[in-house]
Amino acid sequence: MNKTILITGATAGIGKETAVYFAKRGWNVYATGRNIDRIQDLKEKNIHVLYLDVKDVASIDTALAQIDKNSHKLDVLVNNAGYAQFGSIEDVPVEKARQQFETNVFGLTETTRKVIPLMRENGQGRIINVASIAGKVSMPGGAWYAATKFAVEAISDSLRWELKQFNIKVSIIEPGPISSNFGNTANQKAEFINKDSHYKSFYNLILNFGNLSKIGGTTEDVAKAIWKAANKKQPKIRYKVTFAAKALAVLINILPTKLMDYFVIKYFSRET
Ligand SMILES: NC(=O)c1ccc[n+]([C@@H]2O[C@H](COP(=O)([O-])OP(=O)(O)OC[C@H]3O[C@@H](n4cnc5c(N)ncnc54)[C@H](OP(=O)(O)O)[C@@H]3O)[C@@H](O)[C@H]2O)c1
Repeated sequence: MNKTILITGATAGIGKETAVYFAKRGWNVYATGRNIDRIQDLKEKNIHVLYLDVKDVASIDTALAQIDKNSHKLDVLVNNAGYAQFGSIEDVPVEKARQQFETNVFGLTETTRKVIPLMRENGQGRIINVASIAGKVSMPGGAWYAATKFAVEAISDSLRWELKQFNIKVSIIEPGPISSNFGNTANQKAEFINKDSHYKSFYNLILNFGNLSKIGGTTEDVAKAIWKAANKKQPKIRYKVTFAAKALAVLINILPTKLMDYFVIKYFSRET
């Protein structure tokens, strides 16, 4: 029987690419999101398109009920929905920081909490959380986004230990910069920031994320990592995607913090 996957935040970028990647390989795919009018074309590829806002628990219930109604059993959940609220700690109002946590962290945990009982009943399952290399290393002007991804790392580790007894495996995807709509959304979310902010030198880089992601990877690179996490008999706990993510992970382990500080400030305040 074909396996079944549910992907959150599949109306664009990594989520949409992953939906197509799995559907091409014969999976029952549930591509979910808020603006599902954008992905009606996926239905032609035999992909199920369902409304699911990770901040709205009722919409998670409704989507899962639909999968059950279709007599599909969920094998894999990909917690992918997310965005970046960039801006310095001083510039970002707490309400925007809370919103960032509502989507990237509580949205992920609420979806997961609804799926765990189903996977336990099935006797198996996989949960794949899309974190970021920003969950390993923070950056100036990126504290809130990094804080949510550090949280996803911690939550994923606990989940992995908690769910082993139910034969539910948990993997974490750690992409570096990926070309998608992510940068545009981050810019829109940071539009309120005063152009003359005291931190504007740091914003040159992060608010030009589009340029940075051009030297990074593609959404397909991430879809391939998710494929491995879903299919390998013994999936890795962490999948780093892009050279930048792999190199940074090494650097943060070997560089003394003061040297790291020097490079971070120099890199993030350079002209783009
Ligand atoms: N691109 C990168 O460089 C990069 C690097 C590391 C990690 N990531 C992570 O990868 C994931 C996907 O990002 P992406 O690059 O594919 O960006 P993207 O193209 O902007 O896609 C993000 C997706 O998340 C959805 N989303 C946001 N809030 C949601 C909510 N409350 N409920 C359901 N869906 C919601 C968006 O849908 P709406 O249209 O409804 O907003 C969209 O479908 C994110 O978790 C991001 O943090 C990205």
